[in-house]
Amino acid sequence: MPQLSTPHAAVVGLQWGDEGKGKIVDLLTARYDCIVRYNGGANAGHTVQVGTERYALHLIPSGILSKGKINVVGNGVVVDPEKILEEIDGLRKRGVEVGSNLRISDRAHVVMPYHKDQDAALEDLLAKRAGTAGNGGSIGTTRRGIGPAYADKIRRSTAIRMGDLLNREVLERKLDTICSMRMAELEALGATIGTGANEVRPLVPSELATRFAAAGEKLRPHITDTVYLLHDEMRAGRSVLFEGANACLLDIDHGTFPFVTSSNCSTLGIPSGSGVPGRQIGKVYGIMKAYSTRVGGGPFVTELLDATGDRIRKRGREYGTTTGRARRCGWLDLVAVRYSTMVCGADAIACTLLDVLSGFDELNVCVGYRRADGTITDRFVPDAERMTEFTPVYETLPGWSRELTDCHERSDLPIEAQQYLTFIEQYTATPIELVSVGPERNQTLESACRATAGAR
Ligand code: IMP
Repeated sequence: MPQLSTPHAAVVGLQWGDEGKGKIVDLLTARYDCIVRYNGGANAGHTVQVGTERYALHLIPSGILSKGKINVVGNGVVVDPEKILEEIDGLRKRGVEVGSNLRISDRAHVVMPYHKDQDAALEDLLAKRAGTAGNGGSIGTTRRGIGPAYADKIRRSTAIRMGDLLNREVLERKLDTICSMRMAELEALGATIGTGANEVRPLVPSELATRFAAAGEKLRPHITDTVYLLHDEMRAGRSVLFEGANACLLDIDHGTFPFVTSSNCSTLGIPSGSGVPGRQIGKVYGIMKAYSTRVGGGPFVTELLDATGDRIRKRGREYGTTTGRARRCGWLDLVAVRYSTMVCGADAIACTLLDVLSGFDELNVCVGYRRADGTITDRFVPDAERMTEFTPVYETLPGWSRELTDCHERSDLPIEAQQYLTFIEQYTATPIELVSVGPERNQTLESACRATAGAR
């Protein structure tokens, strides 16, 4: 491997999320000093298994589970203050230290309760109108208020940032303007304002200001200018790992729009979401699972709506960390993964959940999309409307029957599993450096770079 020009790296999901990034970040954390979240909010969910303990993290970087790391929630994240406080309490109760090792950007935007109401009201409205002209139905969001919070960030005058929580007066002044406007918007979306069941409670600026200034007080020790913090750390010779939330195909600009989340969750979001220039990132690890899943609506060319899909879901325990929803499952879509590898600039791939595929006689891998007119493309089209015409073109590879959970080297894997990995490397022209065959830290095979063939 050539010497890296900078010690900083990024980890990003190459599919629609839930690729097992938490485990890989947790593994890589040992090698870096600062772990940084740069996008998304409590819509993300990492499950990290440490020994017999299982931690579900939503906003706090997984580095919090390792001693001596600085964990940064960057300016590109949207923070639900009460959720992050809950997460901090939960970690402390289990003996995890959360103090000066957690820093939250004063410029990160705040997710307020009305963002969640708006998210739900819009989703309900879209679901009701599904099938009407130009309406593809609801997005299937996590209803965590992510889209509306980012919308306020872009609208500017109705936004609240973490730094605002530290000044009750400023907060109440902002909320004065926001609340009346927001109630009208909620009503326009079909919500009823009231105190009954299924009604949205009236928004009272002073009440909200008191509640969120209190959350701000508790978070005060963590809130800071994380841009200077990161640059100071880097200048002092410390290394940084950027932890992507959600995943490349959910990127607001480069994903399957509009069935995406509202942030740049590819590595392209790192500079704007952390204040660190892209050229500082020396290595990008793209994480992919050995098959495909997605939650919510939107195109999914390789989706399996049959017993094979059910089998993958069961073996892979494919239920959301954040919402508990059953995930849609399908064969590996290499057209999509190669696209994400290109957009994210992935230098290496970590392939997770390979063990889930044990027991299939044959495995299909999507290497092209067939259009309605019968022509084939191997280019991804990040547009939901245009993707609906695609059907998958598969290459069929031999499966393996043996369980993989006690393999320790890539060479321990059945030859068919090794061939599966080599096929991915050749198609994406990217080496697979890590392979995960189980949830434990030690169920990870690290291999030296393989020779890769083919072009991106
Ligand atoms: P939102 O981010 O809650 O607005 O949801 C937008 C879309 O992104 C929905 O399809 C969600 O299911 C999906 N999504 C958001 N975050 C994640 C994630 O971390 N994993 C998987 N899907 C996600």
